[in-house]
Amino acid sequence: MSGTELVGNGRFQYHNDQLYCENIPLAELAATYGTPLYVYSRATIVENARAFLAQAPAGALVCYAVKANGNPAILRLLAEAGLGADVTSGGELFLALHAGFAPEKIIYSGVGKLPHEIQAALDANIRALHVESAMELAQIAAIASQRQQVVSIGVRVNPNIPVETHPYISTGAKQHKFGVSPETAVSLIQTAAQHPWLKPVGVAAHIGSQIQDIPPFTASADFLVGLADELASSGIQLEYVDVGGGLGVAYESEKWEVKSEKIGQWVAAVATPVQAAGYGLVMEPGRSIIAAAGVLLTQVVYTKPQGVKQFAIVDAGMNDLLRPTLYSAHHEILQVRRTSEVRRTLAYDIVGPICETGDFLAKERLFPPLASGDLLAVFHAGAYGFAMSSNYNGRLRPAEVLVDDTTAHLIRQRQTYSHLLAGTE
Ligand code: LLP
Repeated sequence: MSGTELVGNGRFQYHNDQLYCENIPLAELAATYGTPLYVYSRATIVENARAFLAQAPAGALVCYAVKANGNPAILRLLAEAGLGADVTSGGELFLALHAGFAPEKIIYSGVGKLPHEIQAALDANIRALHVESAMELAQIAAIASQRQQVVSIGVRVNPNIPVETHPYISTGAKQHKFGVSPETAVSLIQTAAQHPWLKPVGVAAHIGSQIQDIPPFTASADFLVGLADELASSGIQLEYVDVGGGLGVAYESEKWEVKSEKIGQWVAAVATPVQAAGYGLVMEPGRSIIAAAGVLLTQVVYTKPQGVKQFAIVDAGMNDLLRPTLYSAHHEILQVRRTSEVRRTLAYDIVGPICETGDFLAKERLFPPLASGDLLAVFHAGAYGFAMSSNYNGRLRPAEVLVDDTTAHLIRQRQTYSHLLAGTE
């Protein structure tokens, strides 16, 4: 097996059995920066961002969901590409402003905004705060009145559209904590329209994450348009409809060929009803921009047969990538230096060093016999990877590197033990 073979999104490929990110061998990055290491392809990020912008109708806002990956260098790249930001806390608002997102392209969604976070959003004059309860609207109204500042608000509606995804990331059914019922949304918008310091500008929904089918998104867009039209008939003209994020990516390698056209299809599907009704469009993609752009590089420390199992104990754990244990998520794992497929004879559980049975990256994956020092790349780790990492078990958060063709930029240093003491006495 030699030559070049495209893997994943095309920016991670084998040349002569060595896995590269763009034009740098991953083994070289591991040698320079150590492991575990998050490695991102700049070209993939920019291409995905452009895929959204290319299909978006004029005036539409593509607000990147900062929660998927809030690395400042990545945020800067996306701000420069022309995207806006969807933030969910004061911290993410801080990161978005720091990265240079224009305030008029920042949307603040989230169920529990605190008074100081609302103040910060008003200080920055962002595009809108998306309200998720009557109490929250009252809180925003009180702060706006006290500041005598007109505040643009949207209301997040729960459209009660069930979707096929992991239950922890399905958000748009009525048993979920997110948004308000359609009836409440109408009444909150009417209340806001009568308030001297509130200006209702939009309705929003986010039905869940890692959703592969397009029809639920069209249903949600149709639903929001219907609601906006209903408000228009009672004299309240909204400016935009925000369809949220949620477009899934193909985690399994068999499906890797079907990829970026999906973004175009999704944008077209949500834009059509919104545009036809004459509203502006807001989208909040996270995963579909950044998941496939990143791998987590890890090194085999030990192997051990135990009972019927073969374990490969690696230097990355659930604190670095939580998705496999939290959602039973499947991430492809490939050898950085590839050896013959014919010898893929052993089924390994790839586990970390953490004291939890749930500390695994993958189970029962076929590999040739693995040895200490072998490097593995965990694919589609760009979204909700580093973002959900922690210091559990006294482990240091990994470094992050952004690859641009033949140049690697260290965009976050690996933590040191002093981070474990930061802020303590
Ligand atoms: N907008 C809102 C209001 C959201 O809550 C989310 C994600 C997004 C946009 C972006 O959704 P995306 O396009 O990335 O699907 N930690 C989970 C995903 C949680 C998603 C939470 N909300 C995971 O690792 O799968």
